[in-house]
Amino acid sequence: MADLNLQEIQETLISVVREAGRMIMSANPTDIATGTKLNSADIVTETDKAVETLVSSRLSKAYPSFAFIGEETYKPGMQVTAAPTFIVDPIDGTTNFVHGLPEACVSLGFAIDRVPAVGVVYNPYQDKLYTAIRGQGAFLTLGAAWGLEGGKGRVSKLPLSKNPAPLAGLDTCLVAAEWGSTRDGVNYDVKTEVFRKLCASKETGGAMVHSIRSLGSAALNLCAVAAGQLDVYWEGGCWAWDVCAAWAILREAGGIMASGNPGDWEPAIDSRKYLAVRGAPAGQREIVEEFWKVIGDGRMEYES
Ligand code: IPD
Repeated sequence: MADLNLQEIQETLISVVREAGRMIMSANPTDIATGTKLNSADIVTETDKAVETLVSSRLSKAYPSFAFIGEETYKPGMQVTAAPTFIVDPIDGTTNFVHGLPEACVSLGFAIDRVPAVGVVYNPYQDKLYTAIRGQGAFLTLGAAWGLEGGKGRVSKLPLSKNPAPLAGLDTCLVAAEWGSTRDGVNYDVKTEVFRKLCASKETGGAMVHSIRSLGSAALNLCAVAAGQLDVYWEGGCWAWDVCAAWAILREAGGIMASGNPGDWEPAIDSRKYLAVRGAPAGQREIVEEFWKVIGDGRMEYES
């Protein structure tokens, strides 16, 4: 696989997300058909499906020999293999899309040996394009579709700060976490207890984080951690297509990904339990260990 042209793959993915972004912006969520999958909080729209059709047809034409896994065409039992694979979410943040909240994106990842190698995440509402290629850094391009900088957009290397501060403890962190669509059982119990403990005062045994944010899109949460705007992101329940692209961006921005359950420093791409920490000159592993202590004996049990 050494001869794969990752730059060319990234260019293709950028061209596809731009087209997909125009499709999303021209959809009026109040007029489009909306359905549900596992339950009433697990939403899919005809735009999710139409964007995935566009993405898969463009990618299969450009790279017919590569595998493809997309959220809307996934069938139980499909596995991410070691083969070069596009792993895509046509709209990550579908709930926001349906409500007209401008935090949704097209998330196109490319993995080799089950490791993210190229990531392209595009929020068309804010014209924010996050990109990364393995070993070549991560970037945010702002405003290209709006004509900024002669149409090239304003490009910033990630993380946005040239001198990111060391991580000094969870009580200095802004943490992202999501409720997801599972609202009962052990996974819901673990989440509610961890949320409570993260925010609680030190005097009551809590971690006293600055606060918790939920952008409503795993990919955008991860990109914000890559940018250094959020310090930590923890989630159980999301899928490989929610994290593949942004994981490449996080890693290239100096961030790390551990498991959302304690004890595993090398989570698999499809493990469905993730803990991301921003790039920092010191303190990353200590934050993971402190977070795992907050989880304590709780274990999320999402099946991969
Ligand atoms: C969802 C979002 C959400 C996360 C869920 C995902 P979707 O993806 O990423 O933030 O909490 O686990 O399923 O359904 O909007 O593509």
